[in-house]
Amino acid sequence: MQLKHALASAVERLEAAEVGSPRMNAEVLLMFVLGVHRAYLYAHPERELTPEEEARYDEALAQRATGMPSQYIIGHQEFWGLDFVVSPAVLIPRPETEHLVETVLELACDLPRPKIVDVGTGSGCIALALAHELKHAEVYAVDVSSAALEIASANAARLQLDGRVRFVQSDVLKALAVHHDFDFIASNPPYVGFGEADKVQKSVRDFEPRMAVFAGERGLDVIAPLVQQAHKALKPGGWLAVEIGYSMRDAVLNLLHPTMWEDVRVVPDLQGIPRVVAARKR
Ligand SMILES: C[S@@+](CC[C@H](N)C(=O)[O-])C[C@H]1O[C@@H](n2cnc3c(N)ncnc32)[C@H](O)[C@@H]1O
Repeated sequence: MQLKHALASAVERLEAAEVGSPRMNAEVLLMFVLGVHRAYLYAHPERELTPEEEARYDEALAQRATGMPSQYIIGHQEFWGLDFVVSPAVLIPRPETEHLVETVLELACDLPRPKIVDVGTGSGCIALALAHELKHAEVYAVDVSSAALEIASANAARLQLDGRVRFVQSDVLKALAVHHDFDFIASNPPYVGFGEADKVQKSVRDFEPRMAVFAGERGLDVIAPLVQQAHKALKPGGWLAVEIGYSMRDAVLNLLHPTMWEDVRVVPDLQGIPRVVAARKR
């Protein structure tokens, strides 16, 4: 079959399966199967697909038609201009999480060698973006999931940052309880309440790791212990910076007791939605 015909029938198939942006998805999956850039698709519409390419395209389209995100099919997602390998063991890095990286970078600009930990590192995107930007930082990354830590370590190696970040399996900060001198604790924790499952996109509910998305009835089961443990792990004047969910601002601000935290800031995303809460240990 010619490339242009394969593409046209893929668009129809994804449309029928009610996949959003069917042409973009059909192109992305064909680029993945052929190992080419988009320009190639337009430059070679009459190129014949081999039976093996057709079979692999068919399989990728079948997966996408179930609602599986294309990132899990192609195995990659860009974050902070870096290429991350992803699998269904990790959350797909989101562009809005770059606000958390920006917040830490702004606060860290005067520190010669900041000591940082990323809690719930998943693919490693936050820890590795920070290690990439802050060449002299000492960076730790923790996750409760060993499968996530494997992906994060693989990403560190691919980005040639493996000597820069220490990966530790830990429930929140328990495995790092001997540390009391962090300058930054950054986290994009799971923050959706079980009762709010219907507010989350179906593809997230069906395909992204449950423990990366949900955190107890009200979505606070990781953030609440994080705030407590972070206070012990930070040096005085150190910063906690946490990504928060839509409508969680007040619940998270309530956890930051004014006798323990000061200089509390709420950073909005590009749509004006509160996205990051940062606070400094007194
Ligand atoms: C929302 S995902 C964030 C992943 C990645 N940091 C990102 O921004 O794309 C939350 C991560 O927290 C991890 N996690 C969940 N509960 C945890 C806990 N109690 N302690 C440590 N990590 C936890 C999950 O395995 C998941 O990788």
